[in-house]
Amino acid sequence: MRSLLAGKKILFAISGSIAVYKTAAWVRELVLAEAEVTVVMTEAASRFVSSLTFAALSGRRVYTGMFEHDAGEAMTHISLASECDLFIIAPATAQTIAKLANGLADDLLSTLALANRAKLLVFPAMNSAMYCHAATRANLARLQEYGYTVIAPEEGKLACGEEGVGRLPDWETAREEIAAACSVQDLQGQTVLVTAGPTWEALDPARHLGNRSSGKMGYSLARSARRRGADVILVSGPCSLTPPPGVETVHVTSARQMHDAVLAHYDRADIVVMAAAVADYRPKKTMAEKVKKSGRATTLELVANPDILKKLGSRKKQAKRPLLVGFAAESSDHLAEGERKLLQKNLDLIVINDIAGSDTGFEADTNQVSILDKEGGLEKLPLLSKDECGTRILDRVVALLQ
Ligand SMILES: Cc1cc2nc3c(=O)[nH]c(=O)nc-3n(C[C@H](O)[C@H](O)[C@H](O)COP(=O)(O)O)c2cc1C
Repeated sequence: MRSLLAGKKILFAISGSIAVYKTAAWVRELVLAEAEVTVVMTEAASRFVSSLTFAALSGRRVYTGMFEHDAGEAMTHISLASECDLFIIAPATAQTIAKLANGLADDLLSTLALANRAKLLVFPAMNSAMYCHAATRANLARLQEYGYTVIAPEEGKLACGEEGVGRLPDWETAREEIAAACSVQDLQGQTVLVTAGPTWEALDPARHLGNRSSGKMGYSLARSARRRGADVILVSGPCSLTPPPGVETVHVTSARQMHDAVLAHYDRADIVVMAAAVADYRPKKTMAEKVKKSGRATTLELVANPDILKKLGSRKKQAKRPLLVGFAAESSDHLAEGERKLLQKNLDLIVINDIAGSDTGFEADTNQVSILDKEGGLEKLPLLSKDECGTRILDRVVALLQ
């Protein structure tokens, strides 16, 4: 998020909903992501939270009135909009939405919206009866016709005490919408299937064979693909991460469950990225009862799990789609192993992951990978955050699609 928003000029307009307090945290997060945030508030908004809060959080002057300027600033009702890369209205009240739908320009926010040429995101927030009213529905439809992106409010407990639709989304959802608005939509129309995390192979009701995969790389890839406009299906092994908003997530535990889930969704996929660390073997027998301690040495018999990627690769022989990307987590002979897997499994790309270092591979927030293609081309990426790494891998996927 930081690199995506660094230096971006965001005009953050706030209207008078009880949800104003939530956007104080959003402004803080955007500033932490190194965006340049200028806040505009309606008169009603400043009744809920003082402009001082937003001035302190954004580190900039907050604009409230159309006719209040410092010397040399007389045209802020135009210039604030013409200078921004992204215009966000959050929360957007029924009143402000109605004004925008009708092209009114009787305060600074609505005038700026008319003068704006940048992408405009509208986050409505209100009581559910207000939101469901035919007038508000019609006004929101109008905004979409104008090319504004309207982010549907969430359902839940509302400040008025009612339960229903109308809640301003949490920051995590807003962050993804903002990130998508700042991303090239080069995966629009594509369905991307991503696997992530480890698998657990049960020994008995209390124990399993697992591995150190945290799921971070796969979740980053899913998030990044979603931001770039893809429909994303995430098949996730057991991990502690929260799936990115807007991503269809299927939770599995074992390698065989992952196999079944991938095959169930495979036909819909244009691109498959297998970032999960799938167990090669499972115990031949899973005990129904917890095995008691005997103190004696024991032997565990293992049988091979299905090789999901190999199966997908052999199916692909007859078809061009989906594009297949595999991962090879290696602690030695990285390149040779990667090459072998790429060819044997009929992949389009393989991402070779060095798991020997402490800041690469499993559990780390950073990764250092090389990407090998069918023609033998090898791209060595520097140490990057897993989000940036995911972006670079998807850049290669997009290049192949073209
Ligand atoms: C306590 C309180 C909470 C309100 N919350 C909302 C709200 O969540 N959404 C909304 O559309 N209007 C809400 N309103 C009504 C707006 O503040 C009112 O329509 C106002 O004119 C909006 O002006 P603005 O869009 O210029 O900011 C609330 C009013 C009060 C008194």
